[in-house]
Amino acid sequence: MENKTNTPQPPQPLRFLVFSASLRKDSLNTRLAHLATELIAKNGGIADYATMSEFDCPSFNQDLETSHPPAGAAEFHKRLSANDAFIISSPEYNGSMPGLLKNMIDWVSRYRPQPFNESNALLMSASPSMAGGNRALWSLRVPLEHLGTRVFPNMFSLAMAHKAYTPDGKIADITLAKRFEDNLIAFMGVVEAAKHYPCIKKAWVEFLGEQPDPVTERVE
Ligand code: FNR
Repeated sequence: MENKTNTPQPPQPLRFLVFSASLRKDSLNTRLAHLATELIAKNGGIADYATMSEFDCPSFNQDLETSHPPAGAAEFHKRLSANDAFIISSPEYNGSMPGLLKNMIDWVSRYRPQPFNESNALLMSASPSMAGGNRALWSLRVPLEHLGTRVFPNMFSLAMAHKAYTPDGKIADITLAKRFEDNLIAFMGVVEAAKHYPCIKKAWVEFLGEQPDPVTERVE
């Protein structure tokens, strides 16, 4: 009789936390996040859709850190742990990411184990501008990569987003719509590989390369 423990198990669907970093009701980024959610389900994944209001935090205060994390930070930490990867659609404010997003990342980065380390992320943006908010994503890469997140190399930025959607929330341009879905599928493949095979694993060191010193020594 076959040993039950050796019975191959059917692969579990991948789980993706998806959210838009905009609190605005008619947000162009929230539309993009909804679209990603639909396409994840279409391609065999499970999307855990969240709103930024669930993760929004008061201004970071190092005196409180994780002894009194705000509810938004606790919620993001929980949802990050419950999923295999996360996808952010972020507005660009003044050539960078929105302050509320960086603020939330700062709060969550103080949990131990530091939850961004070895996580996987896909970054997207939408903006009425011709650059589609792409500079926000380059600024967002910095804290995420610093924290050990494997940020997918290809980022998707939807230019002239106020004119880019069909009334039912799809990307109107067929070529662009295919690019969006293909990029998402490629990311899903990387997350699948990261889940089942050893990928880049490393100790997280906050001040890599500095002389060890009790003040700066933050290593896991
Ligand atoms: C913007 N917007 C903007 N757009 C852009 O492409 N580059 C930028 O630097 C900025 N800067 C900026 C600053 C501030 C404070 C606001 C409020 C807006 C415009 C922005 O892309 C537009 O309002 C989007 O619609 C915001 O995203 P959501 O809320 O639609 O997802």
